[in-house]
Amino acid sequence: MAEYESHDYDVVVIGAGGAGLRAAIEASARGARTALVCKSLLGKAHTVMAEGGVAAALGNVYPEDNWQVHFRDTMRGGKFLNNWRMAQIHAQEAPERVLELEEWGALFDRTPDGRILQRDFGGHRYARLAHVGDRTGLEIIRTLQQHAVHRGIDVFMECTITKLTKDGNRVSGAFGYWRESGKFILFKSKAVVLATGGIGKMYSITSNSWEYTGDGQSLAARAGADLIDMECIQFHPTGMVWPLSVRGILVTEGVRGDGGTLRNSTGKRFMFDYIPPMFAKETADTEEEADRWYTDKVNARRTPDLLPRDEVARAIHYEVKNGRGSPHGGVLLDIATRRDEDYIKRRLPSMYHQFKQLADVDITKEPMEVGPTCHYIMGGVRVEADSAQTTVPGLFAAGEAAAGLHGSNRLGGNSLSDLLVFGKRAGEHAAAYAAGLAAQPAVSEEEIDLEAREVLGGFDSQGTENPYTIQRELQDSMQALVGIIRVEEDLQQALVKIAELKERSRNVGVEGNRQYNPGWHLAIDLRSMLMLAEATTKSALERKESRGGHTRDDYPTAVKEWESRNVVSRLQADGSMSVTVESKPEMPPELQQLFEEG
Ligand code: FUM
Repeated sequence: MAEYESHDYDVVVIGAGGAGLRAAIEASARGARTALVCKSLLGKAHTVMAEGGVAAALGNVYPEDNWQVHFRDTMRGGKFLNNWRMAQIHAQEAPERVLELEEWGALFDRTPDGRILQRDFGGHRYARLAHVGDRTGLEIIRTLQQHAVHRGIDVFMECTITKLTKDGNRVSGAFGYWRESGKFILFKSKAVVLATGGIGKMYSITSNSWEYTGDGQSLAARAGADLIDMECIQFHPTGMVWPLSVRGILVTEGVRGDGGTLRNSTGKRFMFDYIPPMFAKETADTEEEADRWYTDKVNARRTPDLLPRDEVARAIHYEVKNGRGSPHGGVLLDIATRRDEDYIKRRLPSMYHQFKQLADVDITKEPMEVGPTCHYIMGGVRVEADSAQTTVPGLFAAGEAAAGLHGSNRLGGNSLSDLLVFGKRAGEHAAAYAAGLAAQPAVSEEEIDLEAREVLGGFDSQGTENPYTIQRELQDSMQALVGIIRVEEDLQQALVKIAELKERSRNVGVEGNRQYNPGWHLAIDLRSMLMLAEATTKSALERKESRGGHTRDDYPTAVKEWESRNVVSRLQADGSMSVTVESKPEMPPELQQLFEEG
């Protein structure tokens, strides 16, 4: 029998980035005994990588902004694959959530008359991103963390959950291990909220740090929940490309929002060549016209440098592929020409230091070399829009782990508002669900024993495979074959490779003991990454069109019928992922009308 310590809660939140913190705060405020469990240290979350701002139609810079325009931008940015109800709730509730953060102590940058300042970001019609220089995510985490700690929420840090337990069809707890000691821990819980973020570590070039191995998505799938839209992956157009040791680190879209422009090796502002018909009407046609927008309006939204991320990432990919890249395989991002040193250091302090310290580049004088980096997955756990509940009773998901809001492409800044809006809703509904259960659901010893044996398997296996080698090969294959541009042949090849890696992962050997053993931790994480790589690749094969963060060279256009279809991934008894295509709910006429007006 496995030995473990055990705890009882009403609500256990897994993941302590913005969504997890906000969910835990809400659950606890509603009287639920709440635990917050995180794989890393509290405060270390991908939320901090949303640097440039949180999107909310506050209307402080442009009074004509409102939730309807934000809703419309989000749907258009997501190429209409979005769950319309989530997009509606998000646009309606984001302003309230941002103002609440301010009440809790977040210090946003200010307009001259003292209101929250908002900046331009791609695909947003109006300057809409409330921000704190280029450290917005950090400020949000700091504020939420302080609030959560003051509420007295129990926090379990450096604790990885490997399995959700179930009582019949409902969730009954979460089982895992302390990273430091390797000892097991069980949380018996009436409800569980998944807020574990994304899957970036499946790719070799990513803005994500080591934690992002798709834990929530795979925990959900193993518990029987549906995943949707797993083919939709966001490659943020601007990550660092040089030096190699920092390749993939994010360069905030705020650089372009504040006047930065993209050029290729010939010095051309190539984005003018890539304006898609959908955005043609509201994008400047010439450099002169775009420049006028900056100087007349001190506003960047009409320049093609600020098209939605999928458009810009693809354009950079083609420039590099066609031999017009920068010396290290990116393009040039220049803010020094338009903005003076003072402005850059005040508005973009992290970017200034990041380039100075990591690349010895002074961005107040020289351009940055940038290229696409895997940043975010729009797909993930299928949730009910209003409650954030998954298809498994008692299991909720919010933030990047959940799917639907962003459709096939997320607009910058919408992740921070997503995690505030749906983090709160997940916490609220998880607490209500827990309050409705008279007793703690049962946890089966057998289920725990089985999981403990599987998790410890690598120690006894005499296996010869190294987990780091398998991860590296997976990352390289996903990057090369399931990246920004996809074709049938590559996707088939990726599936063969994933099957091979899955097989080899059964023969992983783990050296040493259970005390802080990163090789062992990675061997466990491989299960998730391999499962989700299969889901992503199969979904990408299934969607025979190009839409947002899913571009097929062999099906290069968007197909109207696919706009209303989700690709659903489910884990099968033999450990493989199956994909099916399902229709998604139709938008009601009053919302459809907004597009006619717009
Ligand atoms: O570019 C950025 O600052 C990232 C923002 C986001 O992903 O929302």
